[in-house]
Amino acid sequence: MMSYPELRYATPPEWVARIEERPLELLSDHAHNELKAAATAQAWLLKNTDKPRLVLELSKLASEEVEHFDRVIRLLYSRGGELQPIDNNPYAAELLSRSAGTRKDPFVDRLLVAALIEARSCERFVLLGEYLRDPELRQLYRDLTPCEMEHKDLFVDLVRESLPAGEADSRIEQLFDLEGQVVAELPFAYRMHSGIN
Ligand SMILES: [Fe+2]
Ligand SMILES: [Fe+2]
Repeated sequence: MMSYPELRYATPPEWVARIEERPLELLSDHAHNELKAAATAQAWLLKNTDKPRLVLELSKLASEEVEHFDRVIRLLYSRGGELQPIDNNPYAAELLSRSAGTRKDPFVDRLLVAALIEARSCERFVLLGEYLRDPELRQLYRDLTPCEMEHKDLFVDLVRESLPAGEADSRIEQLFDLEGQVVAELPFAYRMHSGIN
């Protein structure tokens, strides 16, 4: 069986204590990520109607992300929070702009950025599920972790199906290396994909 790439930068657990100062901001940002993931998957599905496996996988993923969105906004509202207006995600923007110079296939890079977003979410969910002091929030992240793990692997599989083996693996390595640098350099924010500085 093919192995899956690992993230290059491990978020220190102190990140959780900082983010826990403003849980409503984290939940709002998290809700947006879930909805964006669903909308992106649906848009890709419509552009790839000739690929039945992709259509089925993206349909499943989109419905899971909508369910996650629903769960997160319910928790947000139950705590008196609000979904904040949409805001661009500096993490994704940095990944896309800093990989542009070496880009060969834009769709492959979008898939890889999706894999990285899922992988970093998943890493953060594991930390949140372990270190948050708030039991309800901690449980949310424990429940959502396994699903995001599958999503990350799905996008890596799709990249491997789209390119010859050597090319796929070298682009995967390049973008995982880049992500490690990006996340180490980004400033801290009350967002799922923030830096720690
Ligand atoms: Fe999700
Ligand atoms: Fe996901």
